[in-house]
Amino acid sequence: MIVDKVVLITGCGGNGIGKSLSKAFYEYGFKVYSSSRNLESMNELSSMGINTIRLDVKDKLSIESAVNQIIKNEGKIDILINNAGISSFNTWIDMPDEELEDVFQTNTLGLIRTTREVAKHMIKERTGLIINIGSVAGFIPMPISGLYCASKAALHSFNESIRVELSPFSIKVMLVMPGPLKSEIVNKTLPKFKEIISNPESPYHPIYKELLDRPLTSIKNQAPIQGLTDSIMKKIFSNRIPNHMKYGPGSIGLVFLSWLPTRLIDFIFSRKFGFSKLKSIIKNDQTKNKDN
Ligand SMILES: NC(=O)c1ccc[n+]([C@@H]2O[C@H](COP(=O)([O-])OP(=O)(O)OC[C@H]3O[C@@H](n4cnc5c(N)ncnc54)[C@H](OP(=O)(O)O)[C@@H]3O)[C@@H](O)[C@H]2O)c1
Repeated sequence: MIVDKVVLITGCGGNGIGKSLSKAFYEYGFKVYSSSRNLESMNELSSMGINTIRLDVKDKLSIESAVNQIIKNEGKIDILINNAGISSFNTWIDMPDEELEDVFQTNTLGLIRTTREVAKHMIKERTGLIINIGSVAGFIPMPISGLYCASKAALHSFNESIRVELSPFSIKVMLVMPGPLKSEIVNKTLPKFKEIISNPESPYHPIYKELLDRPLTSIKNQAPIQGLTDSIMKKIFSNRIPNHMKYGPGSIGLVFLSWLPTRLIDFIFSRKFGFSKLKSIIKNDQTKNKDN
């Protein structure tokens, strides 16, 4: 089947969602442009015949150059998939400024800049589809990944606004919120996380082991990416593309969790991630200091 539609996907360098979606769209006959900040990381895709292009979402010029190149080649971009993203597991108070900025520059501002560049052309064409890859973390924020959750929540808000703003031009916007899926995204953050919380200067050092459990639990619960890809493709071909799509382990459970009173959510997270233990340690220390 040949589909006369041009798709641009960001963040296709790893072995994750971007690569999986690239292959699926290509197999369905779409004209796919997979992008990454490193062309060599997409060799597998280019060897299949998929177009690969350099696009760093943190670099305005790189976004403009990639989009202009596709418009020059094809005259249009029908579907944009904003997939590029980085994870961030860390105690925010210990995080260096560069990491803090990196999370928002990539997950939020990078996505907004890419969308702006592509939407200009979609507006002229009076048609288009923008798929934003958010996260369940964007609607149920969790400790130790506050910056990641905040960056995704911000993109969720942006998604909701532009869905209305772009609808007069027949541009559809869909937000995909996956739960933990098998990719390298969490592993990439672990060395830095371990380095920071193993530092005795961190106020969270006493619960180092419990905190480390948070990303490890996320990794343990990861589902295969193919299920998400199949589900997205089904939605693309459905008569009515939904505004939102949640997918993956825990996504329904987390929806229920988000309905609980905040005090109860705090209690659950404090027990689960070791903050109740830290509270007891601090209380004991204070009592000892008083006694001395
Ligand atoms: N896997 C999950 O559990 C999960 C759950 C919910 C949401 N998500 C979201 O799904 C998306 C894809 O993640 P994934 O799980 O497939 O992980 P992944 O394989 O690490 O994919 C993320 C991709 O984004 C790329 N990227 C990072 N910074 C970039 C930049 N400045 N410009 C362009 N590309 C950049 C990475 O490139 P490099 O290889 O060069 O670093 C990587 O290829 C992310 O937005 C993530 O937040 C993932």
